[in-house]
Amino acid sequence: MHSMPGMNVKDMVMHGMNMAESAAAAGSRIRDLPTGKPLPELARLTNTSGENGVFEAVLEAGPASHEFAPGVVTPLLAYNNAVPGMMIEVIEGDKFKVTFRNRIPGQLSTIHWHGLEIPADQDGNPMHPVARGADRDYEFTIPTGSAGSYWYHPHGLTGQQVYCGLAAPFIVRSKSDPLPPELGDTVLFISTISLNADGSIAENTLADAMNGREGDHVLVNGAKQPVISAAPGSSRRFRLYNATSARFLRLSFESHDMTLVGTDGGLIAAPARGLKELLLAPAERAEIVVDFHVAKGPVALLAMPYERGWMGGDKPASETLTLLTVFLSGPAQSLTQVPERLREIAALGAPMATKRIEFGENMGMANGAMTMDFLIDGKTFDMNRIDLTSRAGDVELWEIANTTDMDHPFHIHGGQFQIVEREIGGKITPNPVLAWKDTVNTSSKETVRIKMRQATAGLRMYHCHILEHEDAGMMGMLNVV
Ligand code: C2O
Ligand code: CU
Ligand code: CU
Repeated sequence: MHSMPGMNVKDMVMHGMNMAESAAAAGSRIRDLPTGKPLPELARLTNTSGENGVFEAVLEAGPASHEFAPGVVTPLLAYNNAVPGMMIEVIEGDKFKVTFRNRIPGQLSTIHWHGLEIPADQDGNPMHPVARGADRDYEFTIPTGSAGSYWYHPHGLTGQQVYCGLAAPFIVRSKSDPLPPELGDTVLFISTISLNADGSIAENTLADAMNGREGDHVLVNGAKQPVISAAPGSSRRFRLYNATSARFLRLSFESHDMTLVGTDGGLIAAPARGLKELLLAPAERAEIVVDFHVAKGPVALLAMPYERGWMGGDKPASETLTLLTVFLSGPAQSLTQVPERLREIAALGAPMATKRIEFGENMGMANGAMTMDFLIDGKTFDMNRIDLTSRAGDVELWEIANTTDMDHPFHIHGGQFQIVEREIGGKITPNPVLAWKDTVNTSSKETVRIKMRQATAGLRMYHCHILEHEDAGMMGMLNVV
């Protein structure tokens, strides 16, 4: 085995890794993790500023450890030693200042504030790496009207640093949340882990590098199949995060309908009721309300099979997974109504410009090994190349065409967009719910049209949010002038 952490397909080919070696890399893994523990609370980053409207803190990324399997220590990476992640909670309008200390052995890093509309030079782009041992401040104002469920993670070596533990929720709260407090507010941060028999985090296999790392175990707030309890008849609010590198989560609460109340960029205008299932592609978030209208549980949050396209061998079994179990107990409660109006969302107006980008792949053979390129407009990422230019303030129509046999979730930095329509096999489906999004799945052979407006000048990344694809260069750079 000559595999090294964070290798992409090209590296593997250069290192002469073939299919057999790749399979061996998936060899001796921990297949069972304890289930049924209470849903872990996420640690909250402490605000050290005494001043009203100011959030200040230090975030140090560095080695930490955790016991996923009893008695087996897993060395990993964490922010401020918090496993599972260190949740940040701020209020709209806050002045935000974090000192980032990179203490990751031998690696550059950044903190990218996924989904937030903040200045480009504070957004943790790969052009602004923080050297090992160095510190840097990130400073920005949390935009008003941005209340929602964001997250933060490194950019550059993204896949490896994220699967080693560096990713966590970033919640922006509004001063007046229209959802009743009786619903609670439960964050479900979904990630995965793959562990070698000795407890160490498994490196990527060739299948991981090509398809993205699906992970052996799906975790919610760092635990496998944790449990929560709810009163029979009660309604609960959940913030669902797909923080996995490459797993498509087709979620359901069994026979319980879900009411969608929010997406990547916060609440939608009106609740979308009666959802039987919800597809969350990697990096997407959703806020939902579930009515537990039955007298007896348990009710499970399930991830059902989804055909995301697969290249090469080692395709994971297509099965329904239980992610979380809700036990219904205690005295019955009455359901809580979700208001008919949640907030105003103005549809972006007529576009001033149109752009089209194309997700592509290129498969080949070199010296008996498979080679694979992940492309946008036929190119892999180059930090010294500007791919597209937009004018700050202009509404633009972007057409994102996926010509490949695999799904690729599109994400762009710098703010939120609106999905207009989807087209597949000549059939156009208008987007049903007006919502703010920063990530949208494009399924194989699908074209998705979105409208966006980049508010401020600067360089912004757009990429596939399958992290191994991003690292392999399925990323471009937009210059907003
Ligand atoms: Cu969450 Cu550029 O990424
Ligand atoms: Cu992002
Ligand atoms: Cu991709």
